Amino acid sequence: MSPGYRVRPMSEFDLPAVMELERALFPGDAWSEDMMRSELAESTRHYYVACRSGGAAGEDGPVMAYAGLRAVPPDGDVQTIAVDRSWWGRGVASALLTELLGAAYTRGVREVLLEVRSDNPRAKELYRRFMFTEIGVRRGYYRDGVDAIVMRCSAPAAAIARTRGGEPSEALEFGEPVEGAGEDEEKA
Ligand SMILES: CC(C)(COP(=O)(O)OP(=O)(O)OC[C@H]1O[C@@H](n2cnc3c(N)ncnc32)[C@H](O)[C@@H]1OP(=O)(O)O)[C@@H](O)C(=O)NCCC(=O)NCCS
Repeated sequence: MSPGYRVRPMSEFDLPAVMELERALFPGDAWSEDMMRSELAESTRHYYVACRSGGAAGEDGPVMAYAGLRAVPPDGDVQTIAVDRSWWGRGVASALLTELLGAAYTRGVREVLLEVRSDNPRAKELYRRFMFTEIGVRRGYYRDGVDAIVMRCSAPAAAIARTRGGEPSEALEFGEPVEGAGEDEEKA
């Protein structure tokens, strides 16, 4: 059965929809549009969106989730991941994380790190399912003083195989990076 959405690389044209989600889903920590734009332009970054499928003539529907990876082999970071609230619990974040870990692995990344708010059990649980383990705490990392939990996945390929997300889509595995500069702040 079709999941009702498809994952594809993010482009600049997705920025208005992505920024709307960003402001709604990270009320205290939202990135600016300029930050998001420079992330997209940086060659080490790989961003994806999930959009509703099934539109007229097979067109993509609205963007309802996005996620980004920083890949500097052998290291990688999950920069951010967010899903429209009305789509929570339907595997969209799992599909995006599968895509990120697949993109990481095919580029030679063997260890993926991320930061997650200590008061975000839902995200922590998602990452645990993908074999991320807690390796440290950054005190007061977020703007409102909340700690960040640092998590690491040392086996991205095994994490993909183990979760129900299955294999990342073949078409996206070797997506061409674009040149440019970016910021280094991580949301996830
Ligand atoms: C954290 C977040 C990204 C999770 O997104 P999500 O799409 O709901 O995540 P998933 O659906 O993949 O997995 C979450 C739940 O759905 C369940 N699920 C996964 N696939 C499913 C499917 N096909 N059908 C039904 N349920 C499914 C999972 O078991 C999990 O259940 P649980 O919450 O009871 O453990 C989302 O809540 C979010 O955007 N939060 C705000 C932004 C944020 O905090 N981002 C993280 C920054 S570190």
